[in-house]
Amino acid sequence: MRFTVAIDGPAAAGKGTISRAVAARFGFAHLDTGLLYRAVGRRALDGAAGGEIDAATAIAAARALDPADLKRDDLRTPAVAQAASVVAAIPEVRQALLDFQRDFAARDGGAVLDGRDIGTVICPDAELKLFVTASDAVRAERRYLELVAGGHDTTRAAVLEDLKARDARDAARDAAPLRPAQEAVLLDTTELSIEAAVEEAVNAVEERIEQGRG
Ligand code: C5P
Repeated sequence: MRFTVAIDGPAAAGKGTISRAVAARFGFAHLDTGLLYRAVGRRALDGAAGGEIDAATAIAAARALDPADLKRDDLRTPAVAQAASVVAAIPEVRQALLDFQRDFAARDGGAVLDGRDIGTVICPDAELKLFVTASDAVRAERRYLELVAGGHDTTRAAVLEDLKARDARDAARDAAPLRPAQEAVLLDTTELSIEAAVEEAVNAVEERIEQGRG
């Protein structure tokens, strides 16, 4: 069976948690596409002279990306998140990551991909598209707690600034900007618990599967 769930939205809206839960519930494979851009951003940062990311280095890193790069344990830092969003605006970087994502989506047994352009560019024919959002304050609080739990020394204000800068860059870029696909189901998680958000997403998948049978 081929069944693709595309989950997009701004940073820290709950996409990851929802995607993992939906994948586990239906036995689908899950790809966090943000990790691809983080891995390229990490490699570009490693090769950056004076902290300036160079497009050619980023493009070469995207073309040479190895699945083992996704397992690095230093991809979840704020610096890598910003670098990911910088390299993600380079069309050649996005192009280099396209086939891997589309192949993943087309695998037998179903797939959930989460990111920014899954419903609009990577999988325009996905069986279900969700666009997950939450208020800036709630997203910043969730990400702050995650970072502190992971041992990072940061402040709420710094996290909020980081999220806003990334969202603005992701939404303003010409290449596959962050925006909901026309037919996406909107899921605002501002007032929802994790369990309630997951339940809404699971219900949407079930409904879509039923429609497919009918
Ligand atoms: O999802 P995550 O916050 O890990 O993504 C890091 C960055 O990677 C995003 O801010 C965005 O710039 C980029 N990204 C993207 N397209 C995707 C997934 C992530 O441009 N499909």
